Amino acid sequence: MGSQWGRDGFYRKARTEGYRSRAAYKLLDIQKRFEVIRADDNVIDLGCAPGSWLQVLRELTDGQVIGIDLNPVPSVEGAVTLVGDFTTEVMHDKIRSMVDVVNVIVCDAAPKFSGTKSYDQARAIGLSEEACDFAITFLKPGGNFVLKSFQGDMFDVILDKMRKNFHGVKVYRSKAARKGSTEVYIIGKKFMGPQSSDDTDAGEKNLKVKVLGKKVEKDEDAESGSRIIRRIVDSHEK
Ligand SMILES: C[S@@+](CC[C@H](N)C(=O)[O-])C[C@H]1O[C@@H](n2cnc3c(N)ncnc32)[C@H](O)[C@@H]1O
Repeated sequence: MGSQWGRDGFYRKARTEGYRSRAAYKLLDIQKRFEVIRADDNVIDLGCAPGSWLQVLRELTDGQVIGIDLNPVPSVEGAVTLVGDFTTEVMHDKIRSMVDVVNVIVCDAAPKFSGTKSYDQARAIGLSEEACDFAITFLKPGGNFVLKSFQGDMFDVILDKMRKNFHGVKVYRSKAARKGSTEVYIIGKKFMGPQSSDDTDAGEKNLKVKVLGKKVEKDEDAESGSRIIRRIVDSHEK
């Protein structure tokens, strides 16, 4: 895929090739460069609607493919889709009942943007953090994780968290990204496993920001990055 595919080019290409959205080319691009998915991997796709990544995943692996989204997703043959919030315990329980080994997690989830830059960035980083926690909970040691995030304030919090949990971490901007957007993908290869994760050890201390629902406060020793995210989201919501 080359730079000849401009914004409309990717849109037209997706229509011609039967993908539901131009986002398909982002995952194809990532796979070509980083080989994150192998032919028998079980994969979970966080924020999967309308389903173009599911279509690509179905082409790449014969393993289980499970997609989760807040919105219903038209069915993709051979993939299971769940409607709900991937950050909730209810969804975690469903996933536990469906799959034993998760080799790869991909996350293209993004919150609805309000247009207020600092608020949107805080929510986006908060959601990336939730996705990272999901990966730490479900990924098999040695597994791979593709995480959409947005460069700007607090991006380093996510990057640090990825570096603490994966042996190889790269930041990649796909050619299919919209011009001017700060969207990037963080590619985490070879998950270290929950036992070696600093974040997991510090789990009780860590203050989480729920970007889509109520906020959950833990204790005073929250890591400073999350504390700042919470302050930004709180001040906007008051
Ligand atoms: C850019 S779209 C994903 C496109 C998808 N990769 C594709 O190829 O069709 C982002 C999606 O993330 C979903 N999303 C955002 N937060 C979520 C959450 N907490 N749980 C589940 N889905 C979420 C949104 O509903 C939206 O459909």
